[in-house]
Amino acid sequence: MVSSGDDMRTIIVYSSISGFTERYAGWIAAALGADLRRLKEIGPRDIRDYDCIVYGGSLHAVGVYGLRKMKRLIERAGLARGAPRLLVFGVGASPPKPETIAQIRDANFTPEEQERIPFFYFRGGFDFSRLDPFHKVIMTLFKWKIARKPTKTPDELGMLKAYESPADFTDPATIAGLVDTVRS
Ligand SMILES: Cc1cc2nc3c(=O)[nH]c(=O)nc-3n(C[C@H](O)[C@H](O)[C@H](O)COP(=O)(O)O)c2cc1C
Repeated sequence: MVSSGDDMRTIIVYSSISGFTERYAGWIAAALGADLRRLKEIGPRDIRDYDCIVYGGSLHAVGVYGLRKMKRLIERAGLARGAPRLLVFGVGASPPKPETIAQIRDANFTPEEQERIPFFYFRGGFDFSRLDPFHKVIMTLFKWKIARKPTKTPDELGMLKAYESPADFTDPATIAGLVDTVRS
């Protein structure tokens, strides 16, 4: 049987602390008719039969949360480099400025990986009440750091406001580029 694009097996794997990345992962899985799993619930066996892996993690100090673990898992699954296809998306509270996205790419991928692994940034939000105790401590320290600054950027002021009432910028329309790339 000749394999068509429709036979491609795709899995969406994600890590999410407060639910924003989980929402994007669900939208992408539904759009592609793909399987959906949390990174912390899977091992190498769970990914080895897929042609395409889409990994999504929230941004933590510019790093895509769980990405290193995902890369190690792919290596342990004994998969040849470049196969299966890996695509990555990061979900952060910051507005999607080109310079921010370029910074995230450089912090998470080598130049060779940047050629090979398509990366997408989606805007999530911030909900302090949904963080686990560990991340609540980290983000409280971060809040104090911003609050102490004599002059604050508009993004920093927006961040401080989000501690008082949760901010949600998620938008299902923004996944279109990733969905098209997987299909192509
Ligand atoms: C410890 C920590 C560090 C963060 N660092 C960043 C960051 O560097 N850039 C950013 O845009 N958002 C940052 N955020 C905000 C989260 O990425 C954002 O709230 C995201 O939508 C959370 O997604 P999740 O609920 O799937 O974990 C950080 C949040 C935490 C808890």
